[in-house]
Amino acid sequence: MAKNFKHIPVLAKEVPDILVRDPSGIYVDGTFGRGGHSRLILEKLSPKGKLYAFDRDEAAVKAAEEISDPRFRIIYAPFAEMKEKLIELGITSVNGILLDIGVSSPQIDDAERGFSFRFDGPLDMRMDTSTGMTAAEWINRAAAEEITSVLKLYGEEKFSSRIAAAICERRTKEPFTTTKALADLIASVVPRNKKDRDQHPATRSFQGIRIFINDELGQLRQALNAAGSLLQPEGILEVISFHSLEDRIVKHFFDMCANPDKGIDPRLPLRAEQLPQPLFSKGKKVVPTKEELEINPRARSSILRFASRTGTPWKGLELT
Ligand SMILES: C[S@@+](CC[C@H](N)C(=O)[O-])C[C@H]1O[C@@H](n2cnc3c(N)ncnc32)[C@H](O)[C@@H]1O
Repeated sequence: MAKNFKHIPVLAKEVPDILVRDPSGIYVDGTFGRGGHSRLILEKLSPKGKLYAFDRDEAAVKAAEEISDPRFRIIYAPFAEMKEKLIELGITSVNGILLDIGVSSPQIDDAERGFSFRFDGPLDMRMDTSTGMTAAEWINRAAAEEITSVLKLYGEEKFSSRIAAAICERRTKEPFTTTKALADLIASVVPRNKKDRDQHPATRSFQGIRIFINDELGQLRQALNAAGSLLQPEGILEVISFHSLEDRIVKHFFDMCANPDKGIDPRLPLRAEQLPQPLFSKGKKVVPTKEELEINPRARSSILRFASRTGTPWKGLELT
């Protein structure tokens, strides 16, 4: 039976207003979730418009079956593959793309998915449970150095090596199978955050493991490039991110695309047409209003960045 979890879309007014410039155009929602944004986008489209939505989570894809609208189609695939999947359907260019990245409330709130240290469940953390390694499989096998670097890089956890050492010691006695066992172990070796005493000591580690298990940053980098090559001139790319690691990649991407001549010595004898031309023109970042945060406190750290594609032919960008 489908579990009924609530998900309120963030920036519900701003996202469709910015995205849909041509109501008869073709749009992509790379992160269907429970379809909060997809439904709002569909409301803006004319009968000729189309919306292709993606999700790598089977439960999200199942939830999408509730939308019976000839203008809508759900695709069960990671958004990094959006270009190939759309080409298979004969779509080579689109008018707008939305990525509302990260995990959804239904994923976090379902203990069985193993994303949360607040509820006990199997230590899984995969968005797509049909493929890849679970968090338990990884944590029971990875070398201490690898665990340290995942917690440090993706969780920005300053006690990463202490936690990794404790994990390696404990798993020799009993392998990890549950979220609670891991959360309790981390809480036993990490002091509480002095600035935010309500934050669970495992918050950062769980974030780091989840990002690693789902290759979230790699997916984002690939999707940004795919979006650049799919969008037609004046097409909009919107990305909503929830933490600084993702936002840094998005900001850097849009900066590189908007100012590709940055770093070129202005004294060089180059004509204007010899300089690299902008690939996107940036819009101003958008954050939730106070009123939105009162209704939906989970929107707290979300940032929407968007930009409009220029007519310059797309060249793949190397993103770090
Ligand atoms: C924050 S939620 C999106 C919520 C959605 N905008 C709504 O209003 O219901 C993120 C969703 O994106 C999906 N997701 C995250 N990374 C993905 C990826 N690389 N490819 C496809 N789906 C992804 C997750 O499974 C989750 O369902």
